[in-house]
Amino acid sequence: MSNADAAAGTGDTGDTGGAGASGADDAAARMGTLSELVAYHNHRYHELDDPEITDGDYDLLVRELRRLEAEHPDLVVEGTASQDVGGAPSSLFAPVVHSVPMQSLDNAMSAEELTAWGQRVARALPDETVRFVCELKIDGLAMSIRYEAGRYVQAATRGDGRTGEDVTANVATIGVVPKQLVAAKGAPVPEVVEVRGEVYLPVASFERMNEEAAAAGERLFVNPRNAGAGSLRQKDPSVTAKRDLAFWVYQLGEVVGGPPLARHTDSLAFLRALGFPVNPEVKVFESLEDVAAHCVHWQQHRHDLDYEIDGVVVKIDDVEQRTRLGSTSRAPRWAIAYKFPPEERTTVLRDIQVSIGRTGRATPFAMLEPVFVGGSTVGVATLHNEDQVRAKDVRPGDTVIVRKAGDVIPEVVGPVVSMRPRGTKPWTFPTTCPGCGTELVRLEGEADTRCVNPACPFQRDQRVIYFASRGAMDIEGLGERTVAQLTSTDPPLVRDAADLYSLDAEALLQLEGFGQVSADKLVAAIDGSRTRPLPRLLTALGVKHLGPAASQALATEFGTLDAVMDAPAEELADVEGLGPIIARSIATWCSLEANRDFIDRLRAAGVDFGVPVPRTPKAPQVLAGKAVVVSGTLEGYTREEAEQAIIARGGKSPGSVSAKTYALVVGDSPGASKVTKAEAAGIPILDAAGFAHLLETGELPDAD
Ligand code: IVH
Repeated sequence: MSNADAAAGTGDTGDTGGAGASGADDAAARMGTLSELVAYHNHRYHELDDPEITDGDYDLLVRELRRLEAEHPDLVVEGTASQDVGGAPSSLFAPVVHSVPMQSLDNAMSAEELTAWGQRVARALPDETVRFVCELKIDGLAMSIRYEAGRYVQAATRGDGRTGEDVTANVATIGVVPKQLVAAKGAPVPEVVEVRGEVYLPVASFERMNEEAAAAGERLFVNPRNAGAGSLRQKDPSVTAKRDLAFWVYQLGEVVGGPPLARHTDSLAFLRALGFPVNPEVKVFESLEDVAAHCVHWQQHRHDLDYEIDGVVVKIDDVEQRTRLGSTSRAPRWAIAYKFPPEERTTVLRDIQVSIGRTGRATPFAMLEPVFVGGSTVGVATLHNEDQVRAKDVRPGDTVIVRKAGDVIPEVVGPVVSMRPRGTKPWTFPTTCPGCGTELVRLEGEADTRCVNPACPFQRDQRVIYFASRGAMDIEGLGERTVAQLTSTDPPLVRDAADLYSLDAEALLQLEGFGQVSADKLVAAIDGSRTRPLPRLLTALGVKHLGPAASQALATEFGTLDAVMDAPAEELADVEGLGPIIARSIATWCSLEANRDFIDRLRAAGVDFGVPVPRTPKAPQVLAGKAVVVSGTLEGYTREEAEQAIIARGGKSPGSVSAKTYALVVGDSPGASKVTKAEAAGIPILDAAGFAHLLETGELPDAD
């Protein structure tokens, strides 16, 4: 199969749910194509560690094939790709036949599919209590590790589920994998024990690897999973040893001897007692609603972890119930993988262009074939800066991986080199500004390229757009297109944001697309923005480094725009959460004649500049330089108030525990991982009373 076929097949399945197979002939043909595609991408993923499409795209192919198989059972061909568990072992490593096959898991892609699985379980186990164990689905490389008489003897990849690859020497380099098991906490060491889990690369290590690759001018790794799999499947284990791989265990394979284990949670406790790294985020529920809520929780918090997860695995705890449920040909019925919506998809890069921001920064961005990823359709994605485009070497015409994770803006991760059309050339950064034609400047040691012409029409438009944006003055209906219309009339209706306040409906009616209703609406929206609170106005000014949080802090401290404008830099730097860089930037901005004139015109237009505040004395800075982490709910404080109380005393309140943490304050239902981490690092853990003492004195309460 050619790359072009693969691309066409992927595209077909896109958002349309696949080519509709009207007749049996169509269905058979589509099933044949899909089966080939799945086999091909399986091979690239499992055997070459070089996937051409993302997991999200792959899942769509498999699901379409399975759907057609379910609709047309008579057309299912024996040994079709939808039954495959993984890849065939490569010739690089010796084969290992698994004594207990390594099964795969069925996926639930939505809450409804999770419920349907729960209903199947309930039907098979009527009137029985079922305990569901929820574990994180680690996005790594499945591994089976064998111990005989307590000694590490073999490590094997999953391969096709029956036969994997012998990677004993490579896995031996992973520090957290025990080499000798010792009986502990009443857990005897079995004669033979095989543990199954996931080898993974922590996100921080992945980022470090990519920084090093970029510095060396080498190709970047697309994600931690690929970088981890590539690091592991090295002929030379000394390369693996340098890669900082880690391991989580989640299952037993063959066991000879050892204690009886009636529940999965018993196995996990046993594994932990033997010294294996078992992920701490394990929860047991008796209702499927709680399971679903837990899945949604992790979907929202997946990026709080320092390793990647792509779902939650739900397993039935009781081993005897598991036996009765049994397995299908490819996966157990007693477990399901709730998969998060994909954050990465492949699509075609149509063009690379450069946008000019309000500070003149030139940002390259990708124009894409629109693709549904991370919960929305993405047609444009950032490429950050010149070095990033060079390191990724993405070219117009390439099939690229697009990532949209959480609230982060979509980005192009990298090209699928094997699908590159012939005759493309590396993209080069333009030398002149697309807005004003001025030569672009990149200063020594800086990552950004800039247009330094303050009169650049693109910069001016961006400043107006930013002024009106939702996080600033929030003027509905004043988007990019309207601003461009307003600034390009002759003479311009708008030269800067202050001119907005002199617009009337009559002026707007000259513009294409405006009628009386829309013109009146925009004038009313602009008028309404005159009374926005001061933090929004401060943000809207577009001062470099001055974002919404610092604007809020300034407004609280000074009350009015005039008080901010008149404050010397040292006084600004003293405001909590500001610091010298923002302070200097504000002071410089305020000292410029043109900016003072702009402010005067806003005042003349009747924009609200705030009300003076009585200056409150500062709390004693007893926590200066100290990091205090808060977890759980503390009586008498919202989480924000607790953090504010720390900050008000000169401290910091980061979201996670590290070696630098001074103390961890715990209320009701604290995060288990924070507590475990603090305990392990010997960091003092305080309750509400301890917190009160800390705020008053800056000291830790006595240990007793
Ligand atoms: S249990 C028979 N638990 O996901 C059940 N698998 O898509 C065996 N995975 O093959 C798997 N985290 O490579 C299990 N907590 C977890 C997991 C997990 C990640 C992987 C594993 C498995 C694949 C299925």
